[in-house]
Amino acid sequence: MSTPDIVVCADRDALNLEAANRFVELAEAAIAERGRFMIALSGGSTPKALFELLASDVWKDRVDWGRVHLFWGDERGVPKDHPESNFGMTNRALIAHVDIPEENVHRVKTEGGTPDEVAAAYADELRAAFGLEAGGVPRFDLIHLGLGDDGHTASMFPGTTAMHEQVKLVVAVWVEKFQQHRITTTPVLINNAAEVQFLVAGSSKVDVLPQVISGAYEPDRLPSQTVRPSSGELRWLVDRDAAAKLE
Ligand code: 6PG
Repeated sequence: MSTPDIVVCADRDALNLEAANRFVELAEAAIAERGRFMIALSGGSTPKALFELLASDVWKDRVDWGRVHLFWGDERGVPKDHPESNFGMTNRALIAHVDIPEENVHRVKTEGGTPDEVAAAYADELRAAFGLEAGGVPRFDLIHLGLGDDGHTASMFPGTTAMHEQVKLVVAVWVEKFQQHRITTTPVLINNAAEVQFLVAGSSKVDVLPQVISGAYEPDRLPSQTVRPSSGELRWLVDRDAAAKLE
């Protein structure tokens, strides 16, 4: 595994600019090389401003959206129009404002059955989109991840077993603290990416960030530590507030 690259940005605006520049660069390279850009997005609150920036008049024409495929690293067990839906947030902030074909938006279809059935269906959709047979592992050009102050990423929470999954691309978990089912990608998928970027902002992450990056390996307490791309880049884009206790 390569050593993580940590980019400390002055504030959230600077972090969003850094992330937007890298999004455009990686999209251009992937589209030039393979004709499309395959990215898995994170949810929560941090990426919303980045999506709004990418959808702005200054930025949106810098990406060939017709060749971009959007996926999600996790989804809450709610309908797509629910306020907590990660797809819903992305749709309002980005998708509704750019010319991306509907078939390029691969949301987790949470209405598609039991949580386990939804997870299995999403794994099938991932493999189909990448043209893989059963058992194949997609290699994303980029996976965005957030970091929870409890050390989770995607929906691999402490108290679940998702971070120890070694076969499935996607699993369903029950998250006690939220009394909610969630669908999450696993290290099997995440660690096969060409690049993984954690986007971390705000003082609420100041204590967990150094523990995840340089603390003892404790995946049950800090599931984010299982993100170790086997043949890809791991980058941390953090703002100064979150990085205040980093060595
Ligand atoms: C989600 C996310 C989750 C998020 C972290 C950080 O569905 O909530 O995928 O993993 O990235 O919880 O969330 P914030 O960006 O809101 O701090």
